[in-house]
Amino acid sequence: MQTAPAQEIYGERLFSTRQDTERERLDLLAQTWDPATTAHLRTLPLAEARSILEIGPGAGSIADLLAESAPHAEVTALDRDTTLLRLRNPRVRPLQADITDAGLELGPFDLIHARCVLMHLRDHEAVLARLVSWLRPGGHLVLSDTAELGFPHSSNADYRATMQALSQVITTHLGSDQNHGLGHPARFRQHDLTDICLTTALPTVTGDAPISLWWQLTLEQARPELIRTGLVDAPALDRALHHMAQPTTHELSIALLTCSGRKRQGQNQPTG
Ligand SMILES: C[S@@+](CC[C@H](N)C(=O)[O-])C[C@H]1O[C@@H](n2cnc3c(N)ncnc32)[C@H](O)[C@@H]1O
Repeated sequence: MQTAPAQEIYGERLFSTRQDTERERLDLLAQTWDPATTAHLRTLPLAEARSILEIGPGAGSIADLLAESAPHAEVTALDRDTTLLRLRNPRVRPLQADITDAGLELGPFDLIHARCVLMHLRDHEAVLARLVSWLRPGGHLVLSDTAELGFPHSSNADYRATMQALSQVITTHLGSDQNHGLGHPARFRQHDLTDICLTTALPTVTGDAPISLWWQLTLEQARPELIRTGLVDAPALDRALHHMAQPTTHELSIALLTCSGRKRQGQNQPTG
């Protein structure tokens, strides 16, 4: 009989900054998604912003981009673990804090951005409500999270099973939801945000593309847990990793959905 996996939080054990490959994994994540994030953020009036919150900055590339694009803004880069945060712009202030901490009081902000963070939080609903309350009237919320729009359709059984196992591992261990991004437009409407815009990126897993290398490090970090799911054994996992590393492979994995919305001018002032 399999024992239930211990409940943990993101970065506590799985994807901890103590792992040798975590810095490289965060850099590859930034290389994969920064073009899509940059394109979406550039549609917003960043030049007017005075205060910006970047949640879960990882290696920090988007915190720096926000500071460069908003020359009058102070940018707060909040992460529960800032060990691997490398900031170039002096207007970015690192803040080590847990965004799920109900006692946290921040704001008001003209822009709040988080990429691949809320999908890993069990209490994402409470966090979202707090983020909306921290926005200045007219301020923008930008959330990017993923959707499993690729791998379930692959014709490669080892790849499909491996990706399914990873999805199961992060759900059972961390409370993550790899389809969390799909619900953002509805959540933004529930919070009465306006000017809602959704954009999507779906990069190709092939050879040494950043997304391929990122998946390979991610899967290796979770190897024991993947095998414990019973969905893959070690040879199947190795075959999937080999498949992903081939330049002749062209697979889809997960999409990044970026949703932005604006707090109405008349909406409540934040308390912070
Ligand atoms: C998947 S990484 C994404 C990094 C970066 N946003 C990117 O997309 O390149 C998740 C980030 O969120 C941070 N994080 C996870 N849970 C958090 C929490 N409860 N409070 C603050 N930061 C958190 C992690 O430490 C990590 O830096």
